[in-house]
Order: sequence, then structure tokens, then C-alpha cells
Amino acid sequence: MIKRFTDLLELEPPHWLIDPFCVDAPTVPLYLQEELMDLQSDCEEKAHFTMMGMNDFGLQSQDEIHFPICENKESTGELADTNFPKIDGLFSESEKSSKLLSWILYHEENTIVDRYSDGAKEYEDITTKLEYRGPTIGTRIFIKFLEQMFSKECNILDLGAGTGICGELLKSAGYINMTAIDLSVSMLEQAKKKGIYKAVVQKDLNEDSLDEFEGQFNAVICIGVFFPGQVEPQAIDKILGVMKPGGILSFTIRTEFYDNEALGYKTKCESLQKEGKLKQLSSEIDTLIGKIDKDAYYLTLQKV
Ligand SMILES: C[S@@+](CC[C@H](N)C(=O)[O-])C[C@H]1O[C@@H](n2cnc3c(N)ncnc32)[C@H](O)[C@@H]1O
Repeated sequence: MIKRFTDLLELEPPHWLIDPFCVDAPTVPLYLQEELMDLQSDCEEKAHFTMMGMNDFGLQSQDEIHFPICENKESTGELADTNFPKIDGLFSESEKSSKLLSWILYHEENTIVDRYSDGAKEYEDITTKLEYRGPTIGTRIFIKFLEQMFSKECNILDLGAGTGICGELLKSAGYINMTAIDLSVSMLEQAKKKGIYKAVVQKDLNEDSLDEFEGQFNAVICIGVFFPGQVEPQAIDKILGVMKPGGILSFTIRTEFYDNEALGYKTKCESLQKEGKLKQLSSEIDTLIGKIDKDAYYLTLQKV
């Protein structure tokens, strides 16, 4: 028995099994060539393989690949801020055990600032793997309004800027006058390296005053920042304070959080609208992260 298993363990898997997307079809056994070519031409499967590695790729059923939801919190730890989806199954065991994923997925004893600090260097790798699309969609909508209302020199605040993904998109669209604010110094260090912001400033939107920026900004973008436990609805008052009259605010928030009146985000926005301080310009619904996330609102509001 032991001998048989030892033999198995000593087997060397063929090269085409280790990475079926990197081999030339003629180098594999004839009976596999057609199937291999079909697999190699399937972009979706290639993306899944890249995300999961061979072990998990081979073990997933098709349904699990497309809907990789793990409901078993017991085995993996409590899921983190519900802003992030249940994405077990997208990652190999080694990836799951990394600090990086525990940072983004699971509650630990540390605080939000610790978590973002621990993961700052890997943030863009992991969000790319997760197909985090909040910045692309949110910035596209934001730019649509910027183009109608302001010049390329307008004063933009990237709030909860993180590593500066939105700032980079804005820079490539020609916007040059940008400030980044974030809670995490480590995330801001990554943003600063890009050289796209005129200033990067550490602030906690829940605790700190933004008075030094009063009335300065034509436009504020805030992507992936509003959710319970991270940034409270009251922050919207502070944001309003840093905007010029006529200025715009684009932000994202999961529909389930916004529509849950007890959480206060919708109530805050609606009461500011009733008071005549804000006007809603647009509301779009899409996911924040790839196909597996829940819906989020992409809202754009104008300071009256
Ligand atoms: C999911 S990331 C989004 C970053 C960036 N906007 C993007 O889309 O890539 C959330 C960011 O919000 C920041 N953040 C969390 N709580 C905050 C707070 N109370 N005040 C300021 N920033 C906060 C985090 O440090 C993190 O960089």
C-alpha cells in the first residue's frame, strides 16, 4: 500500500497537464490534441486557469467555476466586510492561506487600516484577479459628467483613493489637478509612487475634519469606499463641505446597503436632496467586482 502511494507521489505530471495553456498542441499525445486546442481557444477557461492554478482548475466543476460561492463560513473564517463577495473557489489553497486574501476576505482581529496596510502592495494584483471593475465603471461615469461641466484643469478629489486606480484612469483621460485622500498611509504610498496627484493626504473620513479643503473641489470620486463598518453616512456632509457649488460627487455603494434605510446612506442622501443641498444626476446599477459580486449603485450627485 505505502509502496503504491509512494510510486504515485513520485510520478511526474506531463508538461501539458501542468499548464495546458502554454503547450503547443503538436507536442501532446495525438488523442488529446483536439481537446487541448478547444481548451486553449476558450478565453474564459484560460482566465479561470490563470486565477486558480492547475490544482483547483482541474477540480472545479463547470458550475463551481462560474458561481464560486462558498457558504461555509465555519471552515474559512468569518467573511470580511460584506462589500467583498464570497469568492472561495476562485483561489488555490496556497493563495487562500496568504495574508493577502485573509486581508481582503476575512475578518481578523485587526482594524480596517491594518488590513489595507498589510495588503497595500498586493492590492492591485488581487483586485485585478477579482476583476474589480468599480474604478473603470465609476470613472467612466464620472468623466462623462466632467466633460459636460468642467475643463481638464478642474479640481478633483479622489476620496478613499487607495493605490490610485481611479486617479490613473483620470490622468489618462487628461485630468491633471487631483488630490488623493485615504485612511491608509500604506495605500497612499502606492498612490504617491504613481506621481499623478498634486497631494496625497491621510484622513479618516469618519473621524477627521476636512475643513482645510472647504469649498475647493469641482468634483469628488469615491469608489469602493462606502459600506457599513468602513465609511459612515455622515461622511457625506463632510464631502459636501469640500465641494464647490455646482460640483459633482460620484460614488459607489452596494444596492443592499443603500436600500437598507436602517444603515442611513439612503436617508442621508435623500434628506440632503429634500433640504435642497444635493441633486441626483444619475444612478446606474452594476457589479463592483466581476460577475460574482452583488449589484452596486453608481450614483452621481450635484451640490446645489
Ligand atoms: C476598496 S478600497 C478602494 C480604493 C480605490 N478607491 C479603488 O477603487 O481602488 C477602499 C479604500 O477606502 C479606504 N478607507 C477605508 N475606510 C476609510 C475611512 N474611514 N476614511 C478614509 N478612507 C477609508 C481604505 O484605506 C481603502 O484604500
